[in-house]
Amino acid sequence: MLRKLYIETVGCQMNVLDSEMVVASLRQRGYTLTGSLDDADTILFNTCSVREQSENKTYSALGRLRQWKLRHPEKVIGVMGCMAQKDQKLIFERAPYVDLVVGPGQLQQIPELIEQVRREGGQRMAISLGRRDGSTDEIRRSHESFDPLRDPSMRPTPFQAYLRIQIGCDKFCTYCVVPMTRGPEQGRPPDDILAEARTLADQGCLEITLLGQTVNSYRYREAERTTRLSDLLYRLHEIPQIRRLKFVTNYPKDMTDDLLRAVRELPKVSSYLHVPAQSGSNRILERMKRGYTIEDYREMMQRLREAVPNAAVSSDFIVGFCGETDAEYELTAELVKECRFKNSFIFKYSERAGTKAAERMEDDIPHEVKQWRNNDLLAIQNRISFEDNQKFIGQVVEVLVEGPSKTASRRESDGELLQLTGRTLCDRIVVFDGMPRLIGQILPVVIYDVSPHTMFGGVVMEQVEPAALLSL
Ligand code: 5AD
Ligand code: SF4
Repeated sequence: MLRKLYIETVGCQMNVLDSEMVVASLRQRGYTLTGSLDDADTILFNTCSVREQSENKTYSALGRLRQWKLRHPEKVIGVMGCMAQKDQKLIFERAPYVDLVVGPGQLQQIPELIEQVRREGGQRMAISLGRRDGSTDEIRRSHESFDPLRDPSMRPTPFQAYLRIQIGCDKFCTYCVVPMTRGPEQGRPPDDILAEARTLADQGCLEITLLGQTVNSYRYREAERTTRLSDLLYRLHEIPQIRRLKFVTNYPKDMTDDLLRAVRELPKVSSYLHVPAQSGSNRILERMKRGYTIEDYREMMQRLREAVPNAAVSSDFIVGFCGETDAEYELTAELVKECRFKNSFIFKYSERAGTKAAERMEDDIPHEVKQWRNNDLLAIQNRISFEDNQKFIGQVVEVLVEGPSKTASRRESDGELLQLTGRTLCDRIVVFDGMPRLIGQILPVVIYDVSPHTMFGGVVMEQVEPAALLSL
């Protein structure tokens, strides 16, 4: 029987990838995707717990389904991902019409659990019981069977794909819920990663982004041999169809010289390096239990800049962490000015139940102060991004054309000409006019204008010799 799935995904790239795999596994059982709730007989929410705001959004979306489920009791509603693992039964309490709660380490069970609900009714929950050894193995087995399933229609574009190389996180930053929701850190076997990359290449992917919570901490030990992220990059670089390799997110302490060397030596590897600093104050870093000082971070940046002079470095910051004074916030602002990140993702601290910070520290910075610091830091970062982008004016960059821009409209007078968007190898967004057939190509684009987050340009046509120009 033909089934129709509606799936909504929030959160990080890991979640986007998980949704791709869930869709692939359900397609194998005859499901098709629909963008309309009313059309669907199965509704899945892939959720995020990193900040309260994303959880609130999911609970409101569930709230809107209360009446709908009364009218359609036969339709199955499932909540998967980090919020499922974190809230567990609380989801059934807050939304008793939810049928299914499945954590990120149990996603391979989803098809069977949906069938059970359909056959027998009742609610089903599949989550990890804790970070014990048993759950490590269970999560690993889940990913072994699950990660090879791929669905090109669920990718950012047909030529870009994510590839998980690492599961979970062991860093236990005091503010962060991820070590609880995604379990212990485990590197996936290099041969599995290589096989998956080849499949993606055969499916037409030009760009692969390797994913891990602390992707550069990746290690895989087999007998005498240890494979690091740098080793993986050298091996992946050999796949002819793959033109670009990226990896996120990096942990500052594991930005090792072998990795920086790989980034410099391998032309397909992007020198876009996302290395979250989180704060510019040693006291706050210590309270966050980040495991480095600001001096360590500076030393890392210096090594990085020396090894990869053209690197585009980006960062994450949390403002208003427990006890953060004005002076400590100013240290963060200073760090942003000093490091001149390509961009920064800035977040207001959000207390998360189950974390050490929630247990031991008071969330004492008023919301208005967090908001002010957020706006201030964003303004500083925007100014830097704008200034640095201006250096590109007049230069030619290589752009992987992703598709029509969000505001693209077909201009009647130009026939098929569209506003297209794409990215440079260093993850800079470039918008330009072009024919739809350019989508999926890597092209030279000359930049003629910039904003803090976007560059505007035109496709460089074939080089024309000045003599030829004159005769035209
Ligand atoms: N509150 C605010 N931001 C958070 N992040 C992680 N946990 C929290 C939290 N409790 C941010 C960090 C991390 C990014 C993915 O989300 O900056 O790098
Ligand atoms: Fe969270 Fe820290 Fe792990 Fe990143 S490194 S996922 S911030 S615990």
